[in-house]
Amino acid sequence: MAKVGITETVIRDAHQSLIATRMTTEEILPALSMMDKVGYHSIEAWGGATFDSCLRFLNEDPWERLRKIREAAPNTKLQMLFRGQNILGYRHYADDVVEYFVQKSIANGIDIIRIFDALNDIRNLETAINATKKEGGHVQAAISYTISPVHDIPFFVKLAKEYENCGADSICIKDMAGLLIPYEAEKLVKELKKEVKIPIQLHTHYTSGVASMTYLKAIEAGVDVVDCAISPMALGTSQPATETIVKTLEGTDFDTDLDLSLLSDIADYFKPLREKYLDSGLMNTKVLGVDINTLKYQVPGGMLSNLVSQLKQQGKEDKFDEVLREIPKVREDLGWLPLVTPTSQIVGTQAVLNVIMGERYKMISKETKGIVKGEYGRTPVPITEEFRKMVIGDEEPITCRPADLLEPELDKLKREAAEYIEQDEDVLSYALFGQVAEKFFQNRRAEKYKIDPDMVDMKEKVHYV
Ligand code: CO
Repeated sequence: MAKVGITETVIRDAHQSLIATRMTTEEILPALSMMDKVGYHSIEAWGGATFDSCLRFLNEDPWERLRKIREAAPNTKLQMLFRGQNILGYRHYADDVVEYFVQKSIANGIDIIRIFDALNDIRNLETAINATKKEGGHVQAAISYTISPVHDIPFFVKLAKEYENCGADSICIKDMAGLLIPYEAEKLVKELKKEVKIPIQLHTHYTSGVASMTYLKAIEAGVDVVDCAISPMALGTSQPATETIVKTLEGTDFDTDLDLSLLSDIADYFKPLREKYLDSGLMNTKVLGVDINTLKYQVPGGMLSNLVSQLKQQGKEDKFDEVLREIPKVREDLGWLPLVTPTSQIVGTQAVLNVIMGERYKMISKETKGIVKGEYGRTPVPITEEFRKMVIGDEEPITCRPADLLEPELDKLKREAAEYIEQDEDVLSYALFGQVAEKFFQNRRAEKYKIDPDMVDMKEKVHYV
């Protein structure tokens, strides 16, 4: 029987979920030499919101963070999360930017790239998959898990097979909202293991309190790797605790072979940090409890809280139940979108508009139009002709891969960012987070001159000559 692997998420998803991705590189590094000895399947170390957070809030170069992590954990595979053609940003990028980003991620130390798309449109993963293969990285293609009348087990199995045929080295069931319940997980993993040969990894969140049970059933059904977080940064909206899963499987056919005393040293390192975040209010006890609403309404927890605040702004809190009933209707109209960034915001906002305007689609958001037009890719089931006509009239829908309509943009970005570029990777920071990156570059330059008077002198001399 195969042993079960653990991916440790503490320095990516766990702190992204619990403390808005605010752990600094300085806080991360001391734990890594211990983490490197554990024998994890991998450490999820980068991507997701970490890149944005480094530039926007921490005044850190995300590339420098990656290099330091690589250096501190030379023996463990490093993994990152990659949003298909969006990379780590919020729009579709041209293929040359996607390819260059993959190339630089691997060159700076990433081994495994987990690639996903909000719509599960495989065409939005293709460029990233091919680039990762070309650079010698491990492609983990992720299924954005959701619940809808069309997202049944055969749907996910078919998608997994497509990923396998596309060259994926492993599959991830990415349950970003914590919707996967134990016996469903068992059925899904069983079917996937029957139909695909490559390893299956499971990612979920503890939000509704079922995640550890879900892992256990998935493990019994043959899942190869699960995502866990060291206990001080686990549970709540984060992942199940690493130590709990390790101990549960000890001595069974599924033993992880990880050393609990070493894990306990790592937990000891993160405990004071947890206290620090609780004291500062960055970690809110609200996200640490069990929130069953996610399972009740089958929408991500973050989406529910966004809806409440949108309705509050309009003084329409009493419409909450009506909006919740409207969500599945909007999802159906929009071809049963999975609910994950950015589709959760698009569906949520349209449902709110439909309810508070007193008439469905009296007001249609730009993003809803974009989905209907095909700007985001292919929806899980086609949008009806009638609904499309109502939303975009006679406008021609996009049926090709959306990125096929984009001209190469790397050279233009290089020219725009030229005055700031100190390393090749800077153009990618600029591509993804334009103004935020510029601000970071400006700070970097200022700090550099402050701490290195010689540079300033030299520049002045040049200036006077
Ligand atoms: Co996650």
